[in-house]
Order: sequence, then C-alpha cells, then structure tokens
Amino acid sequence: MGEPSSKAGWWAWSTRKKVLIFGTVALVIIALGVGLGVGLGISAKNGGDDDNDNNNEGTGSNTTTPTNTTVRWQPPVGAKWQIILKSEDEPISTSVNAPIYDIDLFDNNKTFISNLQKMDRKVICYFSAGSFENWRDDAGDFNDADKGDDLDGWPGEKWLNVKSTNVRKIMQTRLDIAVEKGCDGVDPDNIDGYDNANGLDLTKAEAIDYVNWLAAQSHSRGLSIGLKNGAGIIDSVIDNMQWCVNEQCAEFDECDTYAPFIEADKPVFHIEYPKGGNTNNDKSVSASQAKSACTANSSGNFSTVIKNMDLDNWVEYCP
Ligand SMILES: *[C@@H]1O[C@H](CO)[C@@H](O)[C@H](O)[C@H]1NC(C)=O
Ligand SMILES: *[C@@H]1O[C@H](CO)[C@@H](O)[C@H](O)[C@H]1NC(C)=O
Ligand SMILES: *[C@@H]1O[C@H](CO)[C@@H](O)[C@H](O)[C@H]1NC(C)=O
Ligand SMILES: *[C@@H]1O[C@H](CO)[C@@H](O)[C@H](O)[C@H]1NC(C)=O
Ligand SMILES: *[C@@H]1O[C@H](CO)[C@@H](O)[C@H](O)[C@H]1NC(C)=O
Repeated sequence: MGEPSSKAGWWAWSTRKKVLIFGTVALVIIALGVGLGVGLGISAKNGGDDDNDNNNEGTGSNTTTPTNTTVRWQPPVGAKWQIILKSEDEPISTSVNAPIYDIDLFDNNKTFISNLQKMDRKVICYFSAGSFENWRDDAGDFNDADKGDDLDGWPGEKWLNVKSTNVRKIMQTRLDIAVEKGCDGVDPDNIDGYDNANGLDLTKAEAIDYVNWLAAQSHSRGLSIGLKNGAGIIDSVIDNMQWCVNEQCAEFDECDTYAPFIEADKPVFHIEYPKGGNTNNDKSVSASQAKSACTANSSGNFSTVIKNMDLDNWVEYCP
C-alpha cells in the first residue's frame, strides 16, 4: 500500500548522478568478472600437474557436487600389481616388487599407505560400494530400506540399493576417508547387483548411473577409479574408468569382454583363482593352471595375478 518512498530518492536525482551510480555498479560487475576469470585461469594452468596432493587446493570450491574431472593417475596397460584384502591373520607383506598395491580401505592406516608410496608404489583402496558389510565401522549408518538380499556365499553382506541418497552419502564419506588416508585410487566392489539375485530389482541402468556417479565423486577428490567386474556395463562407463579389476575371466572364458580396456590404453587387473570355486585355499597352483590363466584369449596384455580366494599375501605371476 502507498507509494514507494524510494521514488522520492531515485527519481529525484539528476541524470548525472544516475550515470555516476550506474557506472560504479557496472565497474563492480566487471571487477567481479575479471576476478572470476583470473581464478579460472589459475585452475586451468595447474590442471595438468601430476603431483600427489589429495585436495583441490587453491580453488576455493567446497561444493559437494563434483566439478573437477581431472584424472591424476592413469596406470599403464600391463602394469604389475598385487592385491591383498585379507590382513587379520598376517600383516600385509610389501615384499612383492609391484608398483601397484590394491588393499582394504578400512583395514589399513595412513602411515602404512604412505610407507607403500615411499617405496614407489601407488595404492588402490578397496571398499564395497554395492554391498552392506555388517562388520564395518560405518555399518550403523545404513537404513534397513537400503538393504536387499544376502550375497550368496558372503556371510554378513547384503546387496545395497544404489539409488539411495543415504547409501550415496555413506560412499562419499568413504571416498573422503580414501583422500584422508592418501589413496591414489579406489576399487569399489559389488557394483554388479543387477547381475545377481539382489531383492531390490536393481537394473543395469542404475548400475551405470551409480558407477559414473562414483567416478565423478572420485575424480573430484583427486582419486582414480576402476570398474570391478560388471562386464555388462563396460561400454557405458569405460570412458570414466582408469582400469578394470576382473575376477576369473579365464575360468569363465570371457576375457575378450574386457579387451576394450586394453584398446583404450587402460590396464585390466586380472585375478584367477586357479582351482575355481570357493575351495582353493591350499596355496598350490600347478604350472599348467597358472599358464591357462596367462594365455587366455586377449589376455596377453592383462595384468594377471594368481591368488587364493581369500586374497591373502600369496600371489603368483605369469611366466
Ligand atoms: C583439478 O585437479 C587438478 C589436478 O590435481 C588441480 O591441479 C586443479 O587445481 C583442480 N581444479 C579445480 C577447478 O578444482
Ligand atoms: C572450504 O575449504 C577450505 C579449505 O579446505 C576450508 O578452510 C573452509 O572452511 C571451507 N569452507 C566451507 C564453507 O566449508
Ligand atoms: C598402522 O599400520 C601399521 C601396519 O599395519 C601398524 O604397524 C601401525 O601400528 C599402525 N599405526 C597406527 C597409528 O595405528
Ligand atoms: C579371441 O578374441 C577375438 C577378438 O576379440 C575374437 O574374435 C575371437 O573369436 C576369440 N577367439 C576365441 C577362441 O575365443
Ligand atoms: C599387447 O601389446 C602389444 C604392444 O602394444 C601389441 O603389439 C599386442 O598385440 C598386444 N597383445 C594382445 C594380445 O593384445
């Protein structure tokens, strides 16, 4: 109600005064624009560096949406690696001279990871992105509605609803832990619920969305990422992956499926459990068993390791 009192001020001023104020406002806008431009320029200049910092320093952006898709570490095809996920019974042995170690995110501390890096090794941190594990520190953060059926053969694990905002929030926190611990990359497991009886009607499209989301979240934190199994979604995620980790492609005669990674100059970290199934724990692999994994079609340039099912320190490499 009533006349805007501002009329008295603005409309009463002279044209000259208006031009002056207009000019000042325009100057402020230009100054802000230049400032933003300089900021972006600095980011672009630093965009190509390949150091090992684990934060997006100097950009002033603390948004939760990922904006930085710079990939800091791309391992080469054929790179030798070692994977050790079991460490309760014996400490992780660092004696294998491999430039890449894939180890559990939760079970290893920052000092251990940094010691590996001082030995010139890159560290990939493993966690389950698609299953609930009842023994993890953050197990209580999942809602009942996030959980589906049990994972067949893995006591204490249930498939997760990968669309759940709560699940995604927990995974962001895990990626933050990976950054705090200084991991170079992450190996998020169990993203292929769609290919299993999961009790949540998970679809391939949801897995694609989830894996690409995990990639964006990882990259924005300076972490590299690989696809774990998930043969059915390779085409839709490979551009955002720096490698893949595959189990048993020789045993299941599907190593060709992973060849696109080699063609894209990305390593295939390939694991075979030589006797197959869940019974291989006697640490005796015959030369012919190892050789059949090493000569599987298209696996010529795969990074093959022969392991026990429990992924302990023991490993054998192709001749
Ligand atoms: C993106 O990451 C690169 C590589 O680590 C970093 O140097 C750069 O400052 C980051 N840029 C932005 C906009 O966060
Ligand atoms: C943004 O990040 C900087 C540096 O990491 C931190 O000091 C600051 O508190 C953050 N600001 C917000 C609003 O989170
Ligand atoms: C970190 O891990 C190493 C190797 O497992 C262990 O020897 C060390 O005591 C741990 N340090 C801390 C502070 O927990
Ligand atoms: C081996 O791989 C090639 C290329 O992917 C494929 O065309 C061929 O059928 C494969 N051979 C066998 C025996 O699987
Ligand atoms: C492995 O890599 C070499 C060198 O790039 C290439 O010549 C060869 O064809 C590759 N082998 C397979 C089986 O892809």
